[in-house]
Amino acid sequence: MLLHSIKELRELRKNWRGLKVGLVPTMGALHEGHLSLIKKAKETCDKVVVSVFVNPIQFGPAEDYDKYPRTLDNDTVLCEKEGVDIVFAPTPDEMYGSGNRLSNDTLTYVCPPFFYVNKLCGKTRVGHFDGVCTVVLKLFNIVQPDYAFFGQKDAQQVVIVKKMVKDLNVPVEIIQCPIVREESGLALSSRNKYLSDEGKQKALALSKILNNIKSCYKRGITDIKGLKETAYNFLTEDYELEYLEILDKNTLEEQEYADNNSIVLIACRVENVRLIDNIYLED
Ligand code: PAJ
Repeated sequence: MLLHSIKELRELRKNWRGLKVGLVPTMGALHEGHLSLIKKAKETCDKVVVSVFVNPIQFGPAEDYDKYPRTLDNDTVLCEKEGVDIVFAPTPDEMYGSGNRLSNDTLTYVCPPFFYVNKLCGKTRVGHFDGVCTVVLKLFNIVQPDYAFFGQKDAQQVVIVKKMVKDLNVPVEIIQCPIVREESGLALSSRNKYLSDEGKQKALALSKILNNIKSCYKRGITDIKGLKETAYNFLTEDYELEYLEILDKNTLEEQEYADNNSIVLIACRVENVRLIDNIYLED
């Protein structure tokens, strides 16, 4: 069932007392990555809500909010096939009130700690994780799920959401799901739609770099600078590397040497499309 209003969702939710409710927050343009979260939610829960909301407050002024793919009809069909109980697709006005709503002069924001946001994607996407945490907490309050499903694809996001849930005692369990990739190794992303065929080929460098670092680590190299340097074999002038980091996967802290708790994270622009990927060194 497709719902657009918070009131209707709350009414239906009331009938689910005593049942295990799962929420899969998304921005739509659903692909197999999202569907893997939905499948996990179906396995774990009695009722599943998928939210489809392109959240304006997590996009910077120069980012792709306007052109972000919106395919609600198709998303609803895919969700129905998976047996999703409710697709919740509110408008920005429904979520934030009409009028001038997108400033922290007028809206209560959830701001995760500087230590977690002042790195990786947060460094260039200033305010992004405030927007993510704000909308995610709102969705938690609206849906009141027992479980919420997030992808490792957005590794910094899931660490920050877990931190928010812990710090604010939100009664929800966060379930993290692995990255779904094309056979080529390319991590599925709604933004892959912006790439030409040639761009998709170039984008394979991200997963190749990550896999190469992992195999170097497995061969005994733990020096982080040395591991990072192996990436330059794959990057020509066509690639704009934004970051390549090896950090503790749970805390995002820097490490002296890579170990089994390390995650390697990369962000790179290909054809001006910003792509991210990551890999755990121990799987
Ligand atoms: P979106 O980019 O639509 O992603 C929704 C969820 O799908 C996220 O948890 C993301 O990590 C997961 N996902 C995306 N690609 C994946 C892949 N290839 N494999 C596995 N999981 C994948 O992330 C957001 O939306 C938003 O920031 C949101 C949390 C909905 C808040 O607005």
